[in-house]
Amino acid sequence: MEEIEINGSKFRKYLTSEQINDAVKRIAAQIEDDYAGLNPLFLIVMKGAIFFAADLIRNVKIDSQIDVISAKSYGSNMISSGKVSLKTFEDNFRGRDIIIIEDIVDSGFTLTSLIGYIKGFSPKSVVAATILSKPTARKTEVSVKYVGIEIPELFVIGYGLDYAEHGRQLKDIYILSSDQ
Ligand code: IMP
Ligand code: MG
Repeated sequence: MEEIEINGSKFRKYLTSEQINDAVKRIAAQIEDDYAGLNPLFLIVMKGAIFFAADLIRNVKIDSQIDVISAKSYGSNMISSGKVSLKTFEDNFRGRDIIIIEDIVDSGFTLTSLIGYIKGFSPKSVVAATILSKPTARKTEVSVKYVGIEIPELFVIGYGLDYAEHGRQLKDIYILSSDQ
């Protein structure tokens, strides 16, 4: 079993880039159908969602715009906490169909905060797309319209996801070796 060491911890491959690609293409096809003629605004949640967003948006072959937002949850590195801080570069959301692009939905606190924040700008609609979801980890009720791959409550890195800012560059998704 191939193991890699990232920031002092051992990780092993959990999802391959092919599995990720399949999920991305499936979501892209759904968005293309659902948003034909609507000119959606993709709102990329920095930094974890950058690779997913780049792959997804290029596969959605309809006109769209892109904006970015940063969301940080405070607390320890591997456990999500309830406090989220948000920072956006623009606020041109009024009357737009917004698709928030996330790397992973865990407790759901980040996405809940984001949706609340965006709704304050009177968009026409706001939904979320995430490449990964841990449905059993939810601590808040939040609906995620487009989900790539559901996973159990494991800590993952790669494809944009980090362990204390390490491991984002990995093409595949890895879990802590001690987790399974
Ligand atoms: P939530 O607010 O608990 O849903 O957490 C969402 C954020 O926590 C994500 O956008 C990630 O930045 C981070 N996160 C949650 N689970 C993981 C993980 O397994 N690996 C890396 N980051 C994670
Ligand atoms: Mg994130």
